[in-house]
This record gives sequence, C-alpha cells and structure tokens, in this order.
Amino acid sequence: MGKSLDNPNIIIDVHLDGQDPKALRAEIHDGLLSSPRRLPTKYFYDDRGSELYERICELPEYYQARTEHQILTRFADEVAATSRANELVELGSGAATKTRVLLNAMARAERLRFYVPFDFSEGIVRRVAHELVNEYAGLQVHGVVGDFLVHLEHIPDGGRRLVVFLGGTIGNMGPEAALAFLTSIQAGMALDDYFLLGVQLITDVDRLEAAYNDAAGVTAEFNKNILHVMQAMVGADFDPDAFEHVARYNHEQHRIEMHLRSVRDQVVHLPDLNLTLTLAEGEEILTEISTKYDRQQTEALLSKAGFDMVAWYTDPEELHGLALTKKS
Ligand code: AVJ
Repeated sequence: MGKSLDNPNIIIDVHLDGQDPKALRAEIHDGLLSSPRRLPTKYFYDDRGSELYERICELPEYYQARTEHQILTRFADEVAATSRANELVELGSGAATKTRVLLNAMARAERLRFYVPFDFSEGIVRRVAHELVNEYAGLQVHGVVGDFLVHLEHIPDGGRRLVVFLGGTIGNMGPEAALAFLTSIQAGMALDDYFLLGVQLITDVDRLEAAYNDAAGVTAEFNKNILHVMQAMVGADFDPDAFEHVARYNHEQHRIEMHLRSVRDQVVHLPDLNLTLTLAEGEEILTEISTKYDRQQTEALLSKAGFDMVAWYTDPEELHGLALTKKS
C-alpha cells in the first residue's frame, strides 16, 4: 500500500492479502465437489492468464474485443462530453488497451486527471500504471489490486467519475451475481457519475462458438491455465495434458460455457484442500460462463440495479453493445 517510490503520480493499493485464504480454499473445494463441478473463473487471470487473454483479443475468431474497440473509437468523444468526467475508473482493467481510447477522449475534452485501474493481476496493474503516467502528462494513476467482487469499496474517491466495466465481463456472472454486482457499483456512485457497461450481444451460434474454439488453440491454453494456477495456489497435481478444452453455447441461458473435460479416468490430489478428486473419462469441470445479452435484457438488468440508460452504442452488425448509464 501507499506511494510508489519511483513515481509520485502512481499509487498502487494491494488488497488481495485481505482475503481470507481459508475462504478462498473453501470456495475452490466446494466448487470442485458441486454438480456440475466448477472452478472460479477469476483464477484464469494470473499474469500468464492475463497475457493469454491479450492474445485471445488478437485472434481472428475472437471478434468481441475488436468490435468493442471500434465502438469506443467511434463514440468516446460523445461519452466524454456527456459524462464530463475527469476520473476514469476501470473494473477489470487488464492491459488497458481500450482505456486509451477513453483517456484520449477525456484529454481532448481537457478534463483528464485520474485513472483508477482495478484488476486481479498485480503485475498488470503496475505495468499499466507506469505506461500511462508516461503517456499522459499530469495523469495520476491510483491502481487497486483486488477482486472487484469483494473490494469495490476500495475505489479511491477522486473527481467526477466515469466507471467502466468493458469487454462483456459482466457475462461471466450468473443473473443474480450480475445484478448484485451492478447494484453495488450503483451504490458506490455519486449522482453525477456515469457508468459504461460493455455487453456481448446474442448472435449467430457458429460465430459465437468459433470465438471460443480458435484454430490456434490459444483459448484452450487460456482455459488450461487455471490448472497451473491451481497447482500454485493449492498444490493441486492437475496434469493439463489430461484435460481437453470444451466450449459450447447454451441456448436456454444464452451463454457460452467453457469446460475442461477429463480425457481419461484420473485421480487429482489437492493437498492444501485435503481433497482427492476422482474424475471419470469425459467428466467436465465448468470454468467459465460468458453470457450474451440483447439490448432489452441489458436495459432491464441495469434498470433493476438502479441505472437509467442514457445512450446505447453498437456496431453495424450489432455484435456488441455499450450502455452509458446514470443512477436513476
Ligand atoms: C474477458 C470475460 C469478456 O467471456 O468472452 C475469452 C473471456 N474467455 N475467451 C469472454 C474469454 C474465453 C472474455 N471476457
């Protein structure tokens, strides 16, 4: 915690220590024993996983990130003008590629003062903080390393805020969790703050499934990275070669579901959890849901969380949506 020694414009707070390791272990333990078996999606994003996700965003099949970037490029000035924000708060900031589009627009509007990247990966928050203070003269970066589902209250108070949650990451939460999360964001906002939410839209199933089954196998590697994280976190002896990547669309819940499927009967030891897991050939562990929405569903969800939609931005093919909102 506290000021970064080498740059007066950077502060990084690390909150991961605040999380009870016992509770984290219990969450993993219970997930693996539930039906379907699952692992918490957030564990994709250690430093290696965050880098793999950056590579996914460059894949020809993964149109989502590219499309959101196009929409932002087209409408960033309008978002900056409407919100009149001087502080950008980004939940799940990652490599902050799209961030620059918004920061540029705020700089053009001559209001840019603060950037608050909030991410699970400490390495990436530090890297981005250093890059951005060099790119934007006078910018103050106050990074927060934590789980934004848990540490939302640690977002520092600054100026007039534009809070953004991009990429369609809201889709990783089930309906109840998504509503609870949006509600807590809303509760933390002032009346003149704005919130920009990115959602992936429901589209052609082949196109959706292809985006999660890329020919180069980067998504498979990303999916299996969670097994490496489990090795490091709870001493699990998962053999990544004993699993295959599976991603398919669930029509009823309008979401992609990613699994790791056991390619043979196997036994996995998780000593830190006091757990021995017996997996049959073909058995699956759910690692991610990625829900797709339409405009009505997005508006209904936001409205339940106490937000009014001020503007809806999309691309010509309607593959992705950005909802600009205020507290109602
Ligand atoms: C970062 C959550 C938006 O759900 O599409 C990409 C993550 N998973 N490929 C998504 C992801 C597999 C991505 N989000």
